[in-house]
Amino acid sequence: MSAGKRGALIIFEGCDRSGKTTQSRLLVELLKSKGIPTLPMNFPERSSSIGQVINSYLTNSKDLPDEVIHLMFSANRWEHMNQVKQKLLEGTTLVVDRYSFSGVAYSAAKGLDFDWCYAPERGLIKPDAVFYLRAPSNDLTNRGQYGEERYEKVEFQGRVAEVFDRICSKEASYFHKFDATQSVEDLHAQIGSITEELLPKVATQPLDTLS
Ligand code: TYD
Repeated sequence: MSAGKRGALIIFEGCDRSGKTTQSRLLVELLKSKGIPTLPMNFPERSSSIGQVINSYLTNSKDLPDEVIHLMFSANRWEHMNQVKQKLLEGTTLVVDRYSFSGVAYSAAKGLDFDWCYAPERGLIKPDAVFYLRAPSNDLTNRGQYGEERYEKVEFQGRVAEVFDRICSKEASYFHKFDATQSVEDLHAQIGSITEELLPKVATQPLDTLS
């Protein structure tokens, strides 16, 4: 990519097993096949020391107060912000599986205050687009491997979806909501065309932060 043109920050959000991982992989493959420098990322990023604590929490080998794990998830994003910024400014598009909105949705679904949950996310780099995959939670339980981690319970996922819906209405200018029950191919086609339109538009825009 030519000098001065930045990459886009693209986020996939949704409940567990909503198909985010498949869709983000397909999008990375599509962009790469068109010669667009692209990197996949995901949060939580479990390899850092903070990430390892999060991993022990998620796999039920460690208990932490809700507030503490919330701040750890946020810190895990903050510790990667320099790297995210650098990659975007170099012209690399980042396709990220989960971001601040998962942070807010899962913690608020446990009963923490919505605004309190949002506060530590302010100042992180603002996504250019969020692809929110929405499916009824009883639909998701039919998909593979559901139930292995702490949050993978139907009732809880329903509450998470409600918070995602609330965030989606609030951040409507860059959220794209999709019915996650449609076919992988249809979903991918829609996401691919929105992304291809988006990249040239954001390339000359300065990076913004979540407020
Ligand atoms: P993830 O590694 O994306 O797992 P999956 O492939 O099952 O979606 O996320 C693990 C869990 O962590 C998932 O249940 C969502 C939750 N989570 C939070 O509670 N807060 C956060 O900030 C993030 C990024 C994820």
